[in-house]
Amino acid sequence: MTTRKKLIAGNWKMNKTSADAVALVSEIVAAVGKQSDVDVVLCPPFTSLESVGRALEGSTVKLGAQNMHHESSGAFTGEISAAMLRALFATHVILGHSERRTYFAESDELINKKVLAALKNQLRPILCVGETLAEREAGSTLKVVQTQTERCLEGVGRDLAPSVVFAYEPVWAIGTGKVATTAQAQEVHGFIRGLLTKLFTDPVAQKVRILYGGSMKPANAPELLAQKDIVGGLIGGASLEARSFVDLVNAATAVV
Ligand code: PGA
Repeated sequence: MTTRKKLIAGNWKMNKTSADAVALVSEIVAAVGKQSDVDVVLCPPFTSLESVGRALEGSTVKLGAQNMHHESSGAFTGEISAAMLRALFATHVILGHSERRTYFAESDELINKKVLAALKNQLRPILCVGETLAEREAGSTLKVVQTQTERCLEGVGRDLAPSVVFAYEPVWAIGTGKVATTAQAQEVHGFIRGLLTKLFTDPVAQKVRILYGGSMKPANAPELLAQKDIVGGLIGGASLEARSFVDLVNAATAVV
């Protein structure tokens, strides 16, 4: 069996001032900052990247951003480049989150440009895909996920594909308390792995980590994380408190 190190990523969204962020990180680092059984990534807002990065120094916890622009510099008011994130020692960047797709009209084509720019700058994209409730009810979940996957990965070579982390996030499960059943989640995770096999060959596909996201909590995590193709979680609400986030890291450690 392939051993893929589990990854638990916290997506803080638009929450926490820099001071609040440092307080939260200190608690997380004290609890899980020395372990290396599970990869842990924290994705604070841009304004806290530097202070959180400093608070993470000397720990095993990594730093991620929630978005970035695909150009390297220039007249793009309000935007942040991959090089700027790298300069703050970020290693990961969430791309294509459904909130970006919905509220900021991000298309697969745009997300694809960001994925390529991130990889070019040695940042690992945490690429989010997932269907809306209407799409699930219409029976088009797999088609939607296939289209998003193929379009967002266009131009990504076999050599860099294992650096992409996937997050399957059913839109109807994000922040709603409605978690996908383990069977629903595993079905889509397995399907994504199959697509990656077709795109990049099986050995490459086996290396890619596919996280589940959408109301993952300490109570439902063990069952989800025990699924063959669920290799971690992208956590929103439950990442905003040290206790629940640490419990999630521990849940992932327990199923290593
Ligand atoms: P949630 O968010 O855990 O609050 O559902 C997950 C996400 O949006 O990444």
